[in-house]
Amino acid sequence: MTLLDGKKTSNDIKDEIAVEVSAMKERGEKVPHLAAVLVGEDGASLTYVGSKVRACERIGFDSTLVKMPESTTEEELLAKVKELNENDDIDGYIVQLPLPKHIDEQKVLLAVDSLKDVDGFHPENFGKMALDMPAFIPATPYGIMELLDRYQVETQGKHTVVIGRSHIVGRPMSILMSRKGNPGNSTVTLTHSRTKNIEEITREADIIISALGVPEFLKADMVKEGVVVIDVGITRVPDESHPKGYVIKGDVDFENVSKKASFITPVPGGVGPMTIAMLLKNTLLAREQRQAN
Ligand code: GUN
Repeated sequence: MTLLDGKKTSNDIKDEIAVEVSAMKERGEKVPHLAAVLVGEDGASLTYVGSKVRACERIGFDSTLVKMPESTTEEELLAKVKELNENDDIDGYIVQLPLPKHIDEQKVLLAVDSLKDVDGFHPENFGKMALDMPAFIPATPYGIMELLDRYQVETQGKHTVVIGRSHIVGRPMSILMSRKGNPGNSTVTLTHSRTKNIEEITREADIIISALGVPEFLKADMVKEGVVVIDVGITRVPDESHPKGYVIKGDVDFENVSKKASFITPVPGGVGPMTIAMLLKNTLLAREQRQAN
C-alpha cells in the first residue's frame, strides 16, 4: 500500500510556486494577489480561509481577507464582488462557501469575473473544463488529479467510482476522470444519495473518490483488493478528549480499507492540503494570464 501523501506533495507544489514568485520579483513584476471573501462566522470556513491566507504569505503572494458579517445582504456582497472584479491589483479571489441562507449563491458566483475565478466555480470555467478548453479547474478536483499524476496512478481504462455529486468536488471530478488525457480516460460512475446498491458498485471500482461527508462510510467489505482510494471527507466529529473538542474524520474506514488498497489518501494530510496548493497554482496562472494580456 502506498500512502498518497498530500501534505508532502502540496509542500513540493508550494516550493515550485515560490520559485516562480521569486523569479517574478527578480524581473520586477508584480507578485500574485489572492483575495478571499468570508461571510459569517462558520468555524470550518474560518479555518479554511485562514489556511489559504497563511499559505499565500508563506510563498510570497499578496493576500487580502475580506471578512463580512453574517447579516451582510446579497446586495452588499454583490457590491464587494464588483469591487474585487474592478480592483486591478487583485489577480484572483474566492468567495468561501457555504454562504448564509439569505444570499443566492448562484447569483454571487455568476457575478465573479471568470478571469479572476480561481475556484473555477463560474459556469464559463466549468463549461470550458467540460469541453477540454483551458480553464480554472476547481481546486479540490485539481488537487486529486495532481496527486494521481505525481504518484503515477494508472487511470486509463479503469473504472472510477465517484461518491457524491456536489458542484465543488463530485461533479467536476466525474468530468475530469472521464476526459481524454492522463490522468483521465477512466470509465466513470457517479453515485449519489439516490443510488441503489452502492456497495455493489464500489466493489467493482478500481478507483474510488469519496466526497460524501459521512464519517467512515466506506468499509473494507465495500472495496476490492488493490483499489485506489481518494478520501475527500473532512467531517468534524465531536470528541471531548481532544483539546479542540472534535476530531476530523474522512469518509473512509482507513484502518481496514488501507489493508486492501494499493494507494490511499489519509485524512488529514491527503486531499485537504492539496486543495490549498492548487488554489495557489490557479492564482499564479491568473497572474500570468493577466500579465500576458
Ligand atoms: N467551501 C468548501 N470548499 C470550498 C472551496 O474549494 N472554495 C470555496 N470558495 N468554498 C469552499
